[in-house]
Amino acid sequence: ARLVVLASGGGSNLAALLAAHDDAAYGARVVGVVSDKPAAGALDLARGAGVASVVVAPADFADRADWNAGVAEAVAVFRPDYVVLAGFMRILAPSFVERFAGRIVNTHPALLPSFPGAHGVRDALAYGVRVTGCTVHVVDAGVDTGPILAQAVVPVADGDDEASLHERIKVAERALLVETVGRVAREGLRVDGRHAVIG
Ligand code: GRF
Repeated sequence: ARLVVLASGGGSNLAALLAAHDDAAYGARVVGVVSDKPAAGALDLARGAGVASVVVAPADFADRADWNAGVAEAVAVFRPDYVVLAGFMRILAPSFVERFAGRIVNTHPALLPSFPGAHGVRDALAYGVRVTGCTVHVVDAGVDTGPILAQAVVPVADGDDEASLHERIKVAERALLVETVGRVAREGLRVDGRHAVIG
């Protein structure tokens, strides 16, 4: 299967997918990386792995709708079977979600539906949870609301701050993302309302 990965940051999730895709048995290859940030470390990882990358920066577009169209076109050029949001920090418009309906997978560093949004780690810590975790889900028109594919539980340690907790979550998160994306790529994905079925 052909994967296009959208990333805004350092790209440790992308790095894990790139490491996995070298194994032919994984059943998926990252064929393109798209970022909204010209300086994203994820772009360096793509280049290092010989994977094509494209920057689609909001500043280069008249408005958010044009930017969304630009992202959709950049993604479509790679002819993806699945689009993976791996630390992509922008909200994609319903038009984007519809164009790739049922084929967009996102990873979130909290146990959805708890702590959605851009600060899930900070919010969980502030709430005082004893366990948190990460969620891989199918993207729907909402923010972090789509059908859940997989979750992993991560304990909160005494003295954790957002950074230490996020790093612990990311260890579980990249393993969960690689495993879940691989299963989807090899077995297929069917979405039925609130439920998504792999296979
Ligand atoms: C991940 O924890 C992702 O869930 C969150 O931001 C982090 C990105 O990490 N949205 P990286 O860029 O993949 O290292």
